Amino acid sequence: MQTYKITAQVSVYQMEELNPEDRLLVEQAIAATEHSYSPYSHFSVGAALRLKNGEVITGSNQENASSSMTICAERNAIFHAQHQHPGQPIVSIAIAARTDKAFTPFPIPPCGACRQVVLEVEDRYKQPIRLLLYGTGGIHVVDTVKDLLPIQFGAENLK
Ligand code: THU
Repeated sequence: MQTYKITAQVSVYQMEELNPEDRLLVEQAIAATEHSYSPYSHFSVGAALRLKNGEVITGSNQENASSSMTICAERNAIFHAQHQHPGQPIVSIAIAARTDKAFTPFPIPPCGACRQVVLEVEDRYKQPIRLLLYGTGGIHVVDTVKDLLPIQFGAENLK
């Protein structure tokens, strides 16, 4: 038998430690939670992504009485960006979430489906996407979605 270890690197910053560009992106994710439609979960998620050309696209979760129709904030923003800005790689994505009461102290990481979609964009443009996960206790940053999806099924596996 052989075993192997998988490691992931996560850096935790306070807001004031972030560079101005990252900080703005996190603030835009926080603001995007305002447009969440989440009458069922009462959990508002906002995502803000920066494209290579500097433009920022935001999204929020949109729920549905038929729950499987719900779309996460991250995928909402990513698909919008892919359609409205074809050919533009995504450089970074910030994510924030709050309940009716407050933003989460510990950041919410993107769900499995969203990780898979982020991976596709990394593969498509052959460039990593930084994820900035906001919590009131700190912003957890990874340099690629591969840190959150260490054994991935991607385009490479189809060759
Ligand atoms: N949600 C997101 O928008 N992004 C995630 O990464 C995790 C979950 C949303 C979906 C649903 O509207 C609510 O959070 C509760 O699951």
